[in-house]
Amino acid sequence: MRTLRFRSSAFLAFTLTVAAMGGPRHGSAALSQSPSAQDQSDVWWKHAVIYEIYPRSFQDSNGDGIGDLNGITSRLDHLKDLGVDMIWLSPIYPSPQVDFGYDISDYEAIDPQYGTMADFDRLLDEAKKRNIRICMDMVMNHTSDKHRWFIESASSRTNPKRDWYIWRDGKSPGQPPNNWLSTFGHSAWQYDPKTKQYYYHYFYIQQPDLNWRNPEVQKAMFGAVRFWLDKGVAGFRLDAVPTLFEDPSLKDEEVQPGTNKFGDPNESTSLQENLPEVHNVMRDLRKLIDSYPGNRVLIGETYLPNVQELYKWYGDDRHDELQLPMDMQVGFINKLDVAEFRKKITDAETKIGDNQPLFVFDNHDNPRLDYRYGDGKHNTEIERMLAAILFGSRATALMYYGDEIGMTTTIPTRVEDVKDPIGKTGWPKEKGRDGERTPMQWDTSKNAGFTTSDHPWLPVPPDYKTINVAVEKPKSDSLLSWYKRLIALRREVPALHSGKEMMLNTNDNHVLSWLRQTEGHPPVLIACNFTANPQTVSFNLAQDGVTGKHPSTLLKSPGARDPASLDKIQLPPFGVYIGEVK
Ligand code: NOJ
Repeated sequence: MRTLRFRSSAFLAFTLTVAAMGGPRHGSAALSQSPSAQDQSDVWWKHAVIYEIYPRSFQDSNGDGIGDLNGITSRLDHLKDLGVDMIWLSPIYPSPQVDFGYDISDYEAIDPQYGTMADFDRLLDEAKKRNIRICMDMVMNHTSDKHRWFIESASSRTNPKRDWYIWRDGKSPGQPPNNWLSTFGHSAWQYDPKTKQYYYHYFYIQQPDLNWRNPEVQKAMFGAVRFWLDKGVAGFRLDAVPTLFEDPSLKDEEVQPGTNKFGDPNESTSLQENLPEVHNVMRDLRKLIDSYPGNRVLIGETYLPNVQELYKWYGDDRHDELQLPMDMQVGFINKLDVAEFRKKITDAETKIGDNQPLFVFDNHDNPRLDYRYGDGKHNTEIERMLAAILFGSRATALMYYGDEIGMTTTIPTRVEDVKDPIGKTGWPKEKGRDGERTPMQWDTSKNAGFTTSDHPWLPVPPDYKTINVAVEKPKSDSLLSWYKRLIALRREVPALHSGKEMMLNTNDNHVLSWLRQTEGHPPVLIACNFTANPQTVSFNLAQDGVTGKHPSTLLKSPGARDPASLDKIQLPPFGVYIGEVK
């Protein structure tokens, strides 16, 4: 058994333990079509593979040890080859980099560490040539404390921008306004000796929260959104968007038993996040992006307690808020529990009306897949299986850089090496997020081909000699080849591209299986063995109206056999079978 870290909506750290550890391809045409010209029922983002790049860690082009925009541009062919439709770029705006870009000091420029606006324009152009869209990370909850808005706001109590942030008097001398906590540890209130008031920050002290009750804030932030829309970006990933509003009563949060990783009392967060007012802003934002041609998309970082809450972020069946709020229910189950996966996938299929689910299994805030799902012995097989669930589902797929080669979580072993500030505040219970942000592993050369510098900003994991793009690319049985094949099947096979999804053998506790079906084409059967033992499964699909009886293999795990019939599909440990039923 080992202890894992996972963050929920509030990035509330909690621990849990798990057992030891050709076809209907969309493309350039969609890039230029306006909403009215394009059939919304089959809009591009419903089938997209979205790839998150953490720019500091992807590719360094100037030898300073930090990834940059020209580095990303130089690696676009890898993404094209993989089958990526859109890149989500974690923030590249000017920033003091306290939270590595999530503390923005100018929303309409590029941080010189990452390049210039001309570099960005070139990236956009080169990506477009490859039919790859670019999605920006939009951090609307807070700015950096070095943003001119905050500098002005902090300058005096009467400054016109004072109310752009959340300033309050203390409860009594030396006492913050209430007991609210920052999700990154300790009080969410920071005292400013100059104006003798506290400001609110849900994240780091250097990330003051904007006051979204002030209409000027929305106007200014939407100005930044327009700036990037005018440049031609395809959409936005909205950072921490459930935290936009706070309860104006400023009542104390409810104190619960025990303490968190930072030694603070456990508390509810219901007054600090997911307030209903946020939906008005989402509707306005949706109107704004819909006023641009090309079916731009809004993706939400929506860690929510359940799928019913998620449904609201679509604007229920009005479809007037986000097109793709992230479903964090499926990908962060963090244990290989068939019943749980089946339930959460079924929820995504049945409880969000006719909206489109977006599945996410990994990102820059959580330990990678090996850490959360691996058993130490079959990690690659397990990662194949998770990829089959991600790309074999009807949901839009969001993946994290390095997953395609099986990059591993590499957590710092000494506090003095930690770069992510929460790892310093929370050490040793919270070691921060460096482990999932290590440099992309391209080849066997120095620093895995990430940088020529002797000092990459985070160390390259020692496994880079075997886990890298160059080694895996030519091997037909590598994880990289598996990813490519899965993504290609999702494009080429009509049932996998747009077929409805139905769970099969719903009492089976070992094998997760489902059917994808679309009219006029053979249905596709997918079966994943969630256990370390071989399993044999049989399917009676006649009861589901399937007339075909013969499985015809599209993809199977190494070691799996081509089955002779639906009565006997054999799966090796953590094996996957994908076949058309003819
Ligand atoms: C969510 C981002 O994913 C995370 O990396 C960041 O620290 C917080 N939001 C604050 O912006």
